[in-house]
Amino acid sequence: MIPIPDGWSTMTSIDKTLHHNLRRVFRSGVTAECLTRYEPAILRNLEVYFSELTKVKDAEGWSAAADMRSWNLSLGFDTMADFGLGLQTDLLRSPAREFVFPALHVHEKKMGLWEQLPILNDLGIGHFVSRVLLFVSPEAKLFSDWYNNFLDEAIRNNTFQSRGIFAPVIQSGQGLLEKPGHNRAQMIGEGAFSTFSSADAYGMMLSGFTHYLSHYPHVYNKLAIEMRGKFKPGQKITWGPQLESSVYLRAVIDEVMRLLPPACGVHWRECERPGITIGANKFPMPVGSDVGMSLFSLFRDGRIFCNPVQFWPERWIPGTLPEAEQSFARKMFTPFLIGSRNCAGGHVAIMIASVAFAHVIVNYDFQMAPERHRTSAHVWSNAPNEVGAEFELRFQSHYSIAGWESGPFIQFRER
Ligand code: HEM
Repeated sequence: MIPIPDGWSTMTSIDKTLHHNLRRVFRSGVTAECLTRYEPAILRNLEVYFSELTKVKDAEGWSAAADMRSWNLSLGFDTMADFGLGLQTDLLRSPAREFVFPALHVHEKKMGLWEQLPILNDLGIGHFVSRVLLFVSPEAKLFSDWYNNFLDEAIRNNTFQSRGIFAPVIQSGQGLLEKPGHNRAQMIGEGAFSTFSSADAYGMMLSGFTHYLSHYPHVYNKLAIEMRGKFKPGQKITWGPQLESSVYLRAVIDEVMRLLPPACGVHWRECERPGITIGANKFPMPVGSDVGMSLFSLFRDGRIFCNPVQFWPERWIPGTLPEAEQSFARKMFTPFLIGSRNCAGGHVAIMIASVAFAHVIVNYDFQMAPERHRTSAHVWSNAPNEVGAEFELRFQSHYSIAGWESGPFIQFRER
């Protein structure tokens, strides 16, 4: 996850002073004022997304089946490049996506593998393979040129003027901020991590939203009534009290993040103090050891969440479950983790998802297309008899930190 030597980011830095400085710079770009200024990027890119998606329609106005995985990756990337850096990557329309996403996917797989087996990184295998690929693979060369151009433009765009929420990171890396922050390598590490990971998280949430709502019509109808009562098709939906106060919308967002936590893997933490034990059996943790648990497993634990694989936003509405059960579930539901190393952009994610989900359901009807996502034979559910198991969006992560390869397939119809 450290793309170049010394390229620590807020997420990867271990040194506490460095982490504090990097996080402070990052957070200065995601204040309420910055979010309001750059928010139009969300709708701007959704409009391009739908104009492309709905180009071909059947006699009843339904668009052709769209593979959400690939469309939402492009949408996520274009949105975050625009929102974060003021860049128009236009992957929704450009053939560049044919070499950008495969390259990012390989990189993600590599990160996932290295995370579990850091020795592979220490042996320098990744750098060696990357260099060889540049000579033998035209796609790798195209990606490398595209990526270098992306970095140059991101820096040029945000050095003397801020054009997105990641601008302070660029300015910090150019030595333009008073307080200590990023050096150039750390600016590149931070910029790459923030753009790519948030793009993937956004895409994943939108895929989960369309998948689960298509399978749970009562949720679809309930949310549609609520959102369509507040906004009309064509109206610009922005982040504000109307969205923030929508309890059911927020419940849907939380339920999507519970069943498809965008950061689904294990978040390692190092034990710093003696005397720490884990679990009911009080397993001792020696100082210096790493401990972690996958959010994906935690959020499907039936001891915490009743009917764990059922998509049921009502579980988050106060009064549905006994208070003690609901507050225990709420306490354990930590998609952004907790503490000083929690997600520094959780509020940004909620804002983007709220605007996007509302925009989709106000302006479009959607349904599952006859195509189904492909799951390999070895991908199985460990809860086949649970309520809702038949509608699980199962995915293979292939050691990678994020995502799956295709599906769900969705059709849209303009309202
Ligand atoms: C639904 C979307 C998102 C989820 C579920 C999510 C989740 C997480 C999680 C679990 C971590 C901790 C990782 C670890 O330490 O192992 C994290 C870290 C981080 N996230 Fe997010 N994230 C999301 C979106 C975003 C967005 C949109 C941004 C940027 C605007 C962002 C920026 C960061 C940063 C900078 C860190 C590092 C924080 C630190 O270590 O101090 N995230 N995120």
